[in-house]
Amino acid sequence: MFPSIIALLTLISVACGQSPGLQVILTNKGLQYGKHVGAGWIQDRLNNITFPDISGKVLGAIHFTLTGITITKCDFPEPSVEFYQDATGFKTSMSGLSVALAGWWKTQFGIIHDGGSFNLAIFSVDVTSVVGLGKDADGRLSVTSVSCDANVGDVDMQFYGGASAIFKPFVKYFKGRIRGEIQTHICPKLEEAIVMIEEQLQAMNVSFDVDQDVTLEFPLTDLPVVNASSMNLGLKGEFYSIKHHEEPPFKPQLFAVPEQQGYMLSVGLSEFTLNSASYGYYLAGLFQALINDSVIPPSLHMHLNTSEMGPFIPQLPKMFPDLLMNLQVYARDAPLFSFQPGAIKLDFHGAVKAFAIQPNHTQTPLFNLNVDSDFSGKVWVADGKLKASMGMNNLTVTLASSEVGPFKTDAIEKVAKLGSTVFMAKVNEILGKGADLPRMKQVVPVNTVLQMDMGFIAIFSDAQVLTDGDLD
Ligand SMILES: *[C@@H]1O[C@H](CO)[C@@H](O)[C@H](O)[C@H]1NC(C)=O
Ligand SMILES: *[C@@H]1O[C@H](CO)[C@@H](O)[C@H](O)[C@H]1NC(C)=O
Ligand SMILES: *[C@@H]1O[C@H](CO)[C@@H](O)[C@H](O)[C@H]1NC(C)=O
Ligand SMILES: *[C@@H]1O[C@H](CO)[C@@H](O)[C@H](O)[C@H]1NC(C)=O
Ligand SMILES: *[C@@H]1O[C@H](CO)[C@@H](O)[C@H](O)[C@H]1NC(C)=O
Ligand SMILES: *[C@@H]1O[C@H](CO)[C@@H](O)[C@H](O)[C@H]1NC(C)=O
Ligand SMILES: *[C@@H]1O[C@H](CO)[C@@H](O)[C@H](O)[C@H]1NC(C)=O
Repeated sequence: MFPSIIALLTLISVACGQSPGLQVILTNKGLQYGKHVGAGWIQDRLNNITFPDISGKVLGAIHFTLTGITITKCDFPEPSVEFYQDATGFKTSMSGLSVALAGWWKTQFGIIHDGGSFNLAIFSVDVTSVVGLGKDADGRLSVTSVSCDANVGDVDMQFYGGASAIFKPFVKYFKGRIRGEIQTHICPKLEEAIVMIEEQLQAMNVSFDVDQDVTLEFPLTDLPVVNASSMNLGLKGEFYSIKHHEEPPFKPQLFAVPEQQGYMLSVGLSEFTLNSASYGYYLAGLFQALINDSVIPPSLHMHLNTSEMGPFIPQLPKMFPDLLMNLQVYARDAPLFSFQPGAIKLDFHGAVKAFAIQPNHTQTPLFNLNVDSDFSGKVWVADGKLKASMGMNNLTVTLASSEVGPFKTDAIEKVAKLGSTVFMAKVNEILGKGADLPRMKQVVPVNTVLQMDMGFIAIFSDAQVLTDGDLD
């Protein structure tokens, strides 16, 4: 019995996929800002709505049409929106919306046509909508309308022109029809809008090619998690080599981004995500280089040839005098990062294969060295840029195999350390300049801070939505 339960649990955990490598958390502050921007956007577009004609019959025989309806004034109170745990989504309510409309009326009774203009005021519109979040089979976010309630408090109508005076007594009757007509249209319109958002979500990619070597996959790993104070999206966040789509020999670990209600957004980036990028680039063959005499800067007054190796490998110039050399430098495995509170560590296991180039261009293998080093550094955000610094803690060179007999590696290690110091200074110059924080077309991060934790980096940020004016 017990083993079968274990087997079942294992199956379930495999079927449910892996822990997220990336987490994106929207706080209430972010939700309120998003709502504010959204309300402004709606307000701007309300004046531009084209209404469908309304037609029907009154008193059984008089056919009427209201046409060319436009908004003349709109009092759009800012809606309220909150996280809604019960539906794993949001609840939006708006109360007290008032709209003034104007248009043209036409009636037809038998062969009698009449027409004129009208004003229509709609008062105290209340709308409450609950939108639920989900995840489709491909890991895209999905939205659905869970419930919608709309109530129109009152309408007031005035008719002008034609035989409008005759309508006066019937306005009361009309009002009820119009009020009902508007009320029944609000929720279906809202649901249509939600369907349109859903269609846009369905068109989104859950992966993108970072460059010609690696791709980043970021489908949801699980349903969104919503509680009263935040919404948490767990994303796969895994890089793959495009040529060799292969799982790395390590798995993401669960991590919890600390809640920071003072910022609109929190992003948790796990060391798994960074290491999967490292593994992807490793499979793509990026961590290997060929060093020959022509790549050594002339300013060093050094040549990569066997005659110059005497101080390091005394027997080499005697066995192979005056031959140019090639060095194949490569990572023995993918360099792995580990995130710790306040620090980032990197282990690098490299190797060097040395060859002598014979006059007939044959490459004669000479020796293999292992080069192991570890680095530690920091990542931070300053001036809106992501910056870092790295320092080398240790570098050891050991002889892995030799075709020219044994030799001591101390002297080579010293030179390698010296070379690394120069190299790290260059790297730090680049890292210090920093890289722009990722941004979307119209959303820029502001007030961004970064915190290094065990196994992940947490980035807390506010966002600013640029209006069309800011973009010009
Ligand atoms: C109003 O709608 C028209 C036609 O749909 C469009 O060309 C115009 O850009 C809109 N104006 C605004 C302010 O959205
Ligand atoms: C999705 O990816 C495809 C292929 O990479 C690309 O052509 C398309 O433009 C992408 N769609 C979006 C919305 O980014
Ligand atoms: C909501 O969930 C987050 C973790 O995602 C937790 O830190 C927070 O305390 C929760 N808030 C409430 C009100 O339960
Ligand atoms: C030296 O290496 C560079 C780049 O790795 C390569 O382009 C060049 O052909 C090599 N030169 C010789 C002589 O092998
Ligand atoms: C090797 O280096 C020595 C000393 O720098 C130089 O005299 C010699 O010409 C070099 N040999 C080749 C093949 O480049
Ligand atoms: C090239 O020269 C080396 C050393 O003289 C020799 O051992 C090797 O057999 C030669 N290779 C070819 C293909 O001629
Ligand atoms: C450097 O690495 C070697 C071998 O891994 C180790 O024996 C030595 O203690 C390390 N030195 C420092 C300063 O970490």
